[in-house]
Amino acid sequence: MYGNFFTGKTVWLTGASSGIGKALAVELSRAGAVLITTSRNAQQLEAMRAMLPFPEKCHIFPADLGDEQQVKAVAEEVKSRHSVDILFLNAGISQRSLAKDTPVDVDRKLMEVNFFSSVILSKSLLPDMLEKKSGHFAVISSVTGHIGAPFRSGYAASKHAIHGFFESLWAENANAGIDISIISPGYIHTNISVNALTADGTPQNSMDENTGKGMSPEEMAQKVLKGISKKKKEIYVGGKEILGIYLKRFIPALYYRIIRNYKKP
Ligand SMILES: NC(=O)c1ccc[n+]([C@@H]2O[C@H](COP(=O)([O-])OP(=O)(O)OC[C@H]3O[C@@H](n4cnc5c(N)ncnc54)[C@H](OP(=O)(O)O)[C@@H]3O)[C@@H](O)[C@H]2O)c1
Repeated sequence: MYGNFFTGKTVWLTGASSGIGKALAVELSRAGAVLITTSRNAQQLEAMRAMLPFPEKCHIFPADLGDEQQVKAVAEEVKSRHSVDILFLNAGISQRSLAKDTPVDVDRKLMEVNFFSSVILSKSLLPDMLEKKSGHFAVISSVTGHIGAPFRSGYAASKHAIHGFFESLWAENANAGIDISIISPGYIHTNISVNALTADGTPQNSMDENTGKGMSPEEMAQKVLKGISKKKKEIYVGGKEILGIYLKRFIPALYYRIIRNYKKP
């Protein structure tokens, strides 16, 4: 399905313990990639590894990507042992709270995990990739990386920031063998809404109706890896909600009219 694009490539995948990341890990393993996996929960990473077609080709480097020191330390550790071909930045955390109720500490946490960890890891790997004259940054954004929406102010900001940073990084290094793929999923059936932060910084602990009806992470993983293997710079994946991206781009007045009355979290 992906030719031999991933065969023998070393892919560092963050957020591999759950949802989209777990499905990507299974599919990447099947496609012959060597995996380096990171998230906070080492036990869940072990459980993920046990599901892989080639568990012996999966290495586990746990870290809290919301903690700058841990992000820098894990980057050094991985670099000392592996030469990464594809950095797949998938780890992330969502939000379910109104901006007026949300302390800035919660916004900062969303930015640290979703944005700054991606900046630190990519800056850490870029010099080696430039030396090899090849490297690919695959980054999970969201439909909310293109449009604002209620209950998502800090989350939407962190995902919008991904586009600005990685498009600029690519423009600076495109002629030096660096590729990017920015992936914007709509609703995917994972625990993203269960783990989403509320105004007091604790998880929502319940599944949103839209997320529960979303595309399976397995189907999404296949579509995304197909896009990456074709070196697509932007990949939109999900149901009709991804039309929101086009609505904002081509009929902005209609987007603004709809979104002000959008009540569902
Ligand atoms: N599902 C959707 O509808 C949807 C839509 C658009 C975008 N996305 C994006 O897709 C990505 C994957 O989310 P998902 O849907 O698979 O949700 P998920 O099931 O909640 O998985 C999130 C992953 O991120 C990891 N993570 C969270 N905080 C972390 C931290 N501080 N340090 C290290 N790892 C951390 C989690 O692992 P640990 O808990 O073990 O740390 C887990 O592996 C996210 O970037 C999300 O924003 C999802």
